[in-house]
Amino acid sequence: MTAKAACADFLHFFRSWISNPLRVAAIAPSGDSLARIMTSEIAALDGPIIELGPGTGVFTRALLARGVSEADLTLIEYGPEFIAALQARFPSARVLQMDAAQLAEAGIFEGEPVGAVVSGLPLLSMSPAKIAAIVAGAFAYIRPGGAVYQFTYGPRCPVPRPILERLGLEAVRIGGTVRNLPPASVYRISRREPLDLSRERFNYRESDAELDDVAALSRETGG
Ligand SMILES: C[S@@+](CC[C@H](N)C(=O)[O-])C[C@H]1O[C@@H](n2cnc3c(N)ncnc32)[C@H](O)[C@@H]1O
Repeated sequence: MTAKAACADFLHFFRSWISNPLRVAAIAPSGDSLARIMTSEIAALDGPIIELGPGTGVFTRALLARGVSEADLTLIEYGPEFIAALQARFPSARVLQMDAAQLAEAGIFEGEPVGAVVSGLPLLSMSPAKIAAIVAGAFAYIRPGGAVYQFTYGPRCPVPRPILERLGLEAVRIGGTVRNLPPASVYRISRREPLDLSRERFNYRESDAELDDVAALSRETGG
C-alpha cells in the first residue's frame, strides 16, 4: 500500500471514529504488525473465512498475503461508510453490511464449513449478551479444529470467562505488538477438547479397580 493510500485510509477511519466512536473504537486502522499476528495461523486451506469488522481492510489484505483466496472471504461490516471501499478493493469477496450479532440467524453458510473467523470487532465496548451472540454465531459456522482470532487493547481476552465456559471454548494469547496504536494482543478462541477419561489414557491398573468399586457402589445405591 502506498503512503498516499495509507494516509487516505487513516482519514477515512478517523472520520468514522469521530462520527461513531463506540462502534469504530480506534482512531486509526490496525498496523501491519498486528495484522500479521492476527493471520499468522491461517492458510489458504482454511477457507472459507469470515472477517468481522474489517473497516478499511487491513486484516483482509493480510489474509490475501497468506494465500487465502479472495473468493473465500466473507466480510461482515456494520458501518455503511466502509462498504463501498471494501467492495471496490475486494471485488471477489462477499461483503455483507450487517450486525455481527445477527450471524447465527443470517444463515450465511450451510453447516460448518468455515476454517477461521478473524475479528476486528470492538468487544470491549459491547455488552456481554452481544459478545455471547457474536461468538456463538461465529462457532455455528466454524468446522472442528477452526478458531476465532480476536485482538484487544486490554490486558486479557475480551470474551469474558463465563461466556467462554458456557460455550465450551478456551482462549489462548498467541502474541502481541507494541507497534500498533494502541498496543494490542491477539487471542485464539477454540473449542475445548472433550475430557478423555478412558482407562487407556490413564493406564493405571490400581485406579481401574477403584473405579470398578465406585461403579459397583453406585449401582448398589442406585446413584
Ligand atoms: C476497531 S475497528 C477495526 C477495523 C479493522 N479490522 C482494523 O483492524 O483496522 C472496528 C470495526 O468493527 C466494525 N463494527 C463494530 N461493531 C460491529 C458489529 N456489531 N458488526 C459488524 N461490524 C462492526 C466497525 O464499523 C469497525 O469497522
